[in-house]
Amino acid sequence: MLIDGKAIAQRIRNEIAGDVEKMVQEHDLRPGLAAVLVGEDPASQTYVRMKRKACAEAGIESFGHELPADIDQESLLQVVRDLNADPKVHGILVQLPLPDHLDEEQVLNEISIEKDVDGFHPVNIGRLSMKGREPLFMPCTPMGCMVLLEEAGAKFEGANAVVLGRSNIVGLPAAMMLIKRNATVTVVHSRTKDPASMCRNADILVAAVGRPKMVQGDWVKPGAIVIDVGVNRVDDPTAKRGYRLVGDVDFEAAKDVAGAITPVPGGVGPMTIAMLLKNTLRGAELQLTKAKA
Ligand code: GUN
Repeated sequence: MLIDGKAIAQRIRNEIAGDVEKMVQEHDLRPGLAAVLVGEDPASQTYVRMKRKACAEAGIESFGHELPADIDQESLLQVVRDLNADPKVHGILVQLPLPDHLDEEQVLNEISIEKDVDGFHPVNIGRLSMKGREPLFMPCTPMGCMVLLEEAGAKFEGANAVVLGRSNIVGLPAAMMLIKRNATVTVVHSRTKDPASMCRNADILVAAVGRPKMVQGDWVKPGAIVIDVGVNRVDDPTAKRGYRLVGDVDFEAAKDVAGAITPVPGGVGPMTIAMLLKNTLRGAELQLTKAKA
């Protein structure tokens, strides 16, 4: 079975658009997202543009803050503080990666945990990692993976889940989310001795390493659910742009072995944006509940 992330994301976006209009009607509150982009990295510019367009389509207001690549740490922190204090802003995202001279950890620390729609604040990540605690927000890409797994009918309890990759943005939080759902989780990374045999044991496989087609067909357990987070550019002279996108999984080889698998593109990618919209709506809901209290 092919897991159609694009269709699932569109359905979620339509639901969010309905919820946004309801919030405007009932509470005279329109959710707002601030997108902070430092510098001119083309991929980051594209991501931010896509996120703001998705906001507009869902009726969410977005505020773009495009800052020069050479901005100093204190000025960037002040932008974040101003957004923390702005009642029209319910979500703040600082597009990563930041230029090298900036201290990412300190910037993410400065974002109010109530507006942390990327879920990267250490308090939100910490709560995600701890038993009996709940974060206010969870990172969008792994959250999207979990929704796709649900849609594919995954049984989490007691399942062997393998997460390939341990990045702060995807691998690590994905592993935490799977643990919270009572899966038995193995994190496979660049120093793992025999990644293939680890993957072969996986009922649920989440690949997020950024290596084109690393997961071969014979790494996949028959019937497994495979979520491919990879977005790798490979040269392709026949393609209009000169490249095409491939995942971390050799899709053609894996699709006949897996019980269900996401394509690249059209799998996880669209889900990330849908989850960001969902988190922004939640940010606005948090402001409403706080106003009542
Ligand atoms: N860079 C790569 N993924 C993400 C993401 O989900 N959010 C932000 N802010 N930056 C990213």
